[in-house]
Amino acid sequence: MKAILSIVAALAVGTAAAVAQSVDEQVAERLAPPGELCMKGEACAAAAPAGGAAASGGNGARSGEQVYNSACQTCHAAGVAGAPKFGDAAAWSDRVAQGMDTLYSNAINGIRAMPAKGLCADCSDDEVKAAVDYMVENSK
Ligand code: HEC
Repeated sequence: MKAILSIVAALAVGTAAAVAQSVDEQVAERLAPPGELCMKGEACAAAAPAGGAAASGGNGARSGEQVYNSACQTCHAAGVAGAPKFGDAAAWSDRVAQGMDTLYSNAINGIRAMPAKGLCADCSDDEVKAAVDYMVENSK
């Protein structure tokens, strides 16, 4: 009887120890990598660039209104050098009649007194297109 009890006790202790160890291992496995990464600080910071995309123009592209205000209104607000004036439906309707793709490519590449990208060197093509949309939408 005593022998059986001690075997059972030994098994129980052994099983408990094994369970405890494997749980520890699992916990360690799950916690260690992120714990390590975040402890180091730099790695965590590098994984979450704050506002980087917006500043570089990547995913944080400027709106058509922002691009217009910074790059296009110089000429298009007053109609400098024959630029179709912002809000002037008559001036824009003939232009729009060429098709939006023509307007986009003329805005991006330039046409006559209209400089390429309206001289906005750091504007992406999509930002220039957004500015064209903004002017056209507000000139109907
Ligand atoms: C230096 C002055 C100037 C700036 C800055 C400027 N434009 Fe223009 N833009 C013009 C002039 C002048 C025309 C008329 C060109 C022509 O048809 O002879 C024009 C025409 C256009 C047209 C009509 C093109 C067509 O096919 O009829 C679009 C679209 C346009 N501009 C978009 C823009 C956008 C978008 C910006 C800002 C990113 C911008 N422009 C900045 C002067 C300017």
